[in-house]
Amino acid sequence: MPSPAEAKPQARPAEPFLPFTRPFIDDETVAGVAEVLRSGWITSGPQVKAFEARLSEFFGGRPVRAFNSGTCTMEIALRIAGVGPGEEVITTPLTWVASSNVILETGAKPVFVDIDPATRTIDLDRVEAAVTPRTRAILPVDLAGLPVDRDRLNAIARERGLRVVEDAAQSFGSTWKGRRIGAFGDFVSFSFHANKNITTCEGGCLVVNDEREARLAEQYRLQGVVRTGYDGMEVELVGGKFNMTDVAARIGLGQLPRLGEFLARRRELARAYFAEFLAKRRDLARAYFEEFDRPEVRSLGVGLPPADFTGSNWHMFQVVLPEERLGIRRSGVMEEMHSAGIGTGVHYPAIHLFALYRRMGWKEGDFPNAEYAGRNILTLPLFPAMARADVSRVVRNLALILRKHRKP
Ligand SMILES: Cc1ncc(COP(=O)(O)O)c(C=O)c1O
Repeated sequence: MPSPAEAKPQARPAEPFLPFTRPFIDDETVAGVAEVLRSGWITSGPQVKAFEARLSEFFGGRPVRAFNSGTCTMEIALRIAGVGPGEEVITTPLTWVASSNVILETGAKPVFVDIDPATRTIDLDRVEAAVTPRTRAILPVDLAGLPVDRDRLNAIARERGLRVVEDAAQSFGSTWKGRRIGAFGDFVSFSFHANKNITTCEGGCLVVNDEREARLAEQYRLQGVVRTGYDGMEVELVGGKFNMTDVAARIGLGQLPRLGEFLARRRELARAYFAEFLAKRRDLARAYFEEFDRPEVRSLGVGLPPADFTGSNWHMFQVVLPEERLGIRRSGVMEEMHSAGIGTGVHYPAIHLFALYRRMGWKEGDFPNAEYAGRNILTLPLFPAMARADVSRVVRNLALILRKHRKP
């Protein structure tokens, strides 16, 4: 039986649709973009240089280059590492398909390792068994901004002589044992896609190890070209067209100073600071963990993310639906949530079951943990401009739907 609070009418027409994410771009940044547009220099120029300098400061002085996506950054890192045909790169099957597509782009083979169901990231206990004489690199993914254990990851890579390309697309601002992701390690790739914690609409950056790698990154970024003097031009390798525009960089320059505020807000929407106090004041709106901790919600068996409030940047709040207890599939839950005015997302289906990857030989049963998560993971709304009342509304509606479709 729904509790009285849950039995209230759900889709109140006065409530605007709540998307699962929404970027926040302040007025000063909007004005700054207008200035760039009027300046006469709109593609890569002074704004990109300034953004790269700020990013380098942010990552403790390491060399950083900006690009037009967080996909090309990974492909370029693999190319700089010399990864190519006949070689293997170890990664997770539960990520945006970009993470493994870039491995295919280099001509190498992705080697998937199942996830740890608790963290939903690559299970490091299984990585060593996947290393072969052809393995060149590991490409871990910080899903939802939760950092993969960097101590273990880097120890495995060091012992086996492997390069690491961290897919930190989702973990901008996350930390590992107090150190910022990107400020240490080997290659670290970030995305500034519209739904990331800071955005440039589309874009990305790559942290590299030294100036030689930075120069290679620049070559791969723009047709392999190296310019000298007024008219010198040389091409030594096949590069692409991956440069960031000054318009995008100006947005990034406006976003970066707000990161701390964005992170704090995401964290307090995930878990209230005064949880114990709120527990006594049932009238006050709660954050996600408190809402899911109410006995009538807890009993539904929804899988929660690890409660990491030191390392994670809370890029997403993802739950895993208990499929064995439900007479409804995830798509049905999403549809009913949508009818209640709430957007949800799927990040992500297991990659090895996509047609392209099945054709290469992967099949159901290869990675059971990733497959279960891939079928049942659901991203709930979480973005800085959201209110606690929105969180309550999300959990109230989700609980109602799951209860309605609970198997007898
Ligand atoms: C885990 C992960 N890897 C890679 C990417 C690729 O980034 P982009 O969309 O900027 O190419 C994304 C972003 O969508 C992502 O979430």
